[in-house]
Amino acid sequence: MDKTIRPAAVRGTVHVPGDKSISHRALMCGALAEGTSHARNVADSADCRATRRIVEALGARVVDVAPGEVCVEGPGLAGLTEPTDVLDAANSGTTTRLVAGILATRPFYSVITGDASLRGRPMRRIVEPLSAMGATILGRHGASLLPLSIQGGHLHAIDYTLPVASAQVKSAVLLAGLGAEGTTRVREPAPSRDHTERMLAYLGAPVRCTEGMVQVEGGAMLRPFDLDVPGDISSAAFFLAAGLLAPESAVTVSRVGVNDTRTGVLDVLRAMDATLTIAHEEADGPEPVATVASSTSRLRGTEIGRALIPRLLDELPLLALVATQAHGRTVVRDAAELRVKESDRIATTVGELRRLGAAVTEAADGFVVEGPTRLHGARCQSHGDHRIAMMLAIAGLIAEGETVIEGAECIDVSFPGFFDAFASVISD
Ligand code: S3P
Repeated sequence: MDKTIRPAAVRGTVHVPGDKSISHRALMCGALAEGTSHARNVADSADCRATRRIVEALGARVVDVAPGEVCVEGPGLAGLTEPTDVLDAANSGTTTRLVAGILATRPFYSVITGDASLRGRPMRRIVEPLSAMGATILGRHGASLLPLSIQGGHLHAIDYTLPVASAQVKSAVLLAGLGAEGTTRVREPAPSRDHTERMLAYLGAPVRCTEGMVQVEGGAMLRPFDLDVPGDISSAAFFLAAGLLAPESAVTVSRVGVNDTRTGVLDVLRAMDATLTIAHEEADGPEPVATVASSTSRLRGTEIGRALIPRLLDELPLLALVATQAHGRTVVRDAAELRVKESDRIATTVGELRRLGAAVTEAADGFVVEGPTRLHGARCQSHGDHRIAMMLAIAGLIAEGETVIEGAECIDVSFPGFFDAFASVISD
């Protein structure tokens, strides 16, 4: 699907879908908790639908009770049953890696695969620790690529140091740790998103977090829950950026998750002199929530690297666009992980922004942006990557003439109603 965007100001309030990471975990933990759980504002995105289908294939019953509200009847970890067919994670790395951690605990056979993009993404990072815990995992290229076949059961705890900060790998090991004998410990080089440990603790699992380390006791039972999933800050970021970049604009995003492991984007925008307001709200679940607003700002370049990277990894294509309008140079380094996302996000961000006239150069582990530059509309490609497509839609608001995004349908992966929300804030 081609989508054409023209320059415009944006004004108004947007509601974004429930956080994708938390929605995945709610669906999975709903299956792992024996009994009936309720979750509201669960993302109905393609990625989360893949998780839903997989937990159903493993014996959970998921029922839609109202728009965005699901009830999960979980068989409990020990009650999961062997799937009768291959599990399809579609485009979702989070589904694949977290589900693999769960499957590793079960004494049955399963196969998990995904679309062409996912089948090219690195899986050795989960296969190594899960095999060390006792699962038998085979796959293409020496078990580094999907499809993976998993024969699990009889796991023992490990003390594992992640080679790169990755919430998906950390979560796979922690979920496997729930079904392992002993205390599983995961150490990470920099803090990645901590939704799994927050949710497990909220559901009664003995989880302990100390600086750089998380541990979970094997054999713990999760209790069924009632949860409101906060809005996804990674989706909100596109609208906040639109409010900053478009002339005479102001956008508010309500009830966004502002977990500190996810708010690197807000910290960086503030360092760039963005006008942002964050009004914290009462949250009754494991995650903090706020209403966040932005308005047209004169921005300056900044440096982004080291421990900040895992706190804003998914927002880097968008921050590259923001940097094209900032005065001075923006340097992003230590972000080589971008190369193994839904697309090679260093190459696709740089390539697409250049089509629009941006001064961006590629580095092995990031990029350098000189600003401000006047962008001009062009025919651009999503590369099948939802975050690249949404970044290009925001670029279209400030690029002269028309910006055409080819393959914009991939936005469904995280934000099915994106263009409706977009249209609702366009001001004539
Ligand atoms: C996610 C973790 C991140 C992020 C992804 C979602 C998660 O990946 O990029 O979109 O829900 O755990 P890493 O495993 O690289 O941290």
